[in-house]
Amino acid sequence: MPDILITRAVPDAALALLRSALPDAKIAVNPHDRNLSHAEIVAAASGADALICTLADPVDENLLRALSPKLRVVATYAVGVNNIALATARELGIAVCNTPDVLTDATAEVAVGLMLACARRMVEGDTVTRQGKFSGWAPMFMRGHGVYGKTVGIVGAGRIGKRVAETMRLGFSCPILYHARTARSDWESELQAEQAGLDDLLARSDFVSLHCPLTPQTKHLIDAAALARMKPTAFLINTARGPVVDESALVAALRDGRIAGAGLDVYEQEPALAPGLAALENVVLLPHLGSATHEARDEMGRMCARAVIAVLTGQEPAHRVA
Ligand code: DGY
Repeated sequence: MPDILITRAVPDAALALLRSALPDAKIAVNPHDRNLSHAEIVAAASGADALICTLADPVDENLLRALSPKLRVVATYAVGVNNIALATARELGIAVCNTPDVLTDATAEVAVGLMLACARRMVEGDTVTRQGKFSGWAPMFMRGHGVYGKTVGIVGAGRIGKRVAETMRLGFSCPILYHARTARSDWESELQAEQAGLDDLLARSDFVSLHCPLTPQTKHLIDAAALARMKPTAFLINTARGPVVDESALVAALRDGRIAGAGLDVYEQEPALAPGLAALENVVLLPHLGSATHEARDEMGRMCARAVIAVLTGQEPAHRVA
């Protein structure tokens, strides 16, 4: 009888699939409305054949070694796998699966929404209105920056970056720059996008939108020097992973008006914010909502369930990253 630990409550769609394909499985779901600690996961998953985890769980070398050799599969409720010790999983023969594609549209929507919200001061405007400080239309009141036709720089040319580029190109006629290791002919032919070095992209973009995975190479990719290269009228958008940005350097740049603003969905020490960030007016802060639609989260759950079912029934899972 296989044992499955799910580290956070998930939509019924995932549980229904697991129960119908593995009727004898013992499925334990974290009953708390909080993440489990490392020690709690080790204790709760000891003897488990499968772990369905989230991007907030530290599935590190110690955890995988503690659960091996019983553990056969880790299915993460995310596309990003920076919290999982992939090399150790490979060494121990534990399959690691993620949930690409199904959250592309949802995450791109949040990136585009943050661009609009920052440039057009939508969150600030909502606050002003609720506070009764809207005393009537006036030519000088709350002017922001237009979005139409502005240059958008995309860092990381994966699925989400491409969807953001398409939306901005087709919806807002924005020239697109992209930063990626290799040239992307589809971007260039479909979107007339131009590949650019990071420094060039930072210097020319009105919106810099981050869509790269978090790796040792991309940690603090956007540091004080990178922020200094951006235009003073430009906005930084991060829906990727918090540590790609040096958040203290960002607070300093925003406070000094070295860039116009930022829209953040992810944080360096998530869920904590860098000191001073929440006090700034030129930043829009979201609580990691990228994939948070009913559609995406249901499908992510189904993908995790399918990955577990595949491995536990001796088949190759569809989206295996280790
Ligand atoms: C992911 O899947 O990596 C996203 O950040 C989840 O919202």
